[in-house]
Amino acid sequence: MSLPSYESNTLLNQYLLFHYGSQEEVLPYSFGPREALEFPARCVSELVCEHLPSGRARALDVGCAVGRASFELARYFDEVVGVDFSVAFIEAAQELASKGLLDYARAHEGKVTLRSVAAVPEGIDRARVQFETGDAMDLREDLGQFDLVMACNLICRLPEPMRFLSRLSSLVKPGGVLVITTPFTWLEQYTPPEYWLGGQAEGGDSFNGLCEALEGDFSLLQEKDMPMLIKETARKYQWTAVQASVWQRQG
Ligand SMILES: C[S@@+](CC[C@H](N)C(=O)[O-])C[C@H]1O[C@@H](n2cnc3c(N)ncnc32)[C@H](O)[C@@H]1O
Repeated sequence: MSLPSYESNTLLNQYLLFHYGSQEEVLPYSFGPREALEFPARCVSELVCEHLPSGRARALDVGCAVGRASFELARYFDEVVGVDFSVAFIEAAQELASKGLLDYARAHEGKVTLRSVAAVPEGIDRARVQFETGDAMDLREDLGQFDLVMACNLICRLPEPMRFLSRLSSLVKPGGVLVITTPFTWLEQYTPPEYWLGGQAEGGDSFNGLCEALEGDFSLLQEKDMPMLIKETARKYQWTAVQASVWQRQG
């Protein structure tokens, strides 16, 4: 199975629609899972806002893609850093940070696309947000510490998720908050099975694996399921029940 590349125009346009599309653009039907819209913004409004840390100086969004959640974090934090491996995604996010708007072409049918404009929502200070390319498993040493670290739907895209998870205790300030969402979609093309957190055998629950990876340095504040909708074409969607967990760094 070949996997879609996060550098491709198809995925760039799909993620711009996923992060910035209006309800009319994403789900123009009289039916459908409306509660699954705006997933990146809901990660902040439903998870971060429920557990805002006392310090609000710095937030980090790892695997930020085209940046919507990073901008939403800027409503609450003085400085937000968004990091992603994809050059195409980070260039789009940087354009949105500098201009507030970005033209793109969303897939409709076959070769037909529709012109759209991604826009950072009103009321967000874009100057608070910086985007950079980076590898979650090898983040630069001088990134510093954060009051909040968020990683949405990242860990099952990493070749070795533990290389990211074991860095978290030094990235999150003591008392700071960690938000992780994941559909636990383990795929050998992204992650060799020996590095999966679970899903190998009956009883090998991936959330238990995540808890084992974080326990000791973090305590679990909340766990919940969240619906997510990604539009592929006019009539084709991915609907996902994402698992979300919120943690506090001990100490
Ligand atoms: C499934 S998408 C989720 C994006 C975003 N957090 C969201 O919820 O819409 C996974 C993201 O992780 C990024 N990614 C994959 N491997 C990475 C790595 N090693 N380091 C940083 N980002 C990575 C991809 O480029 C992509 O933007």
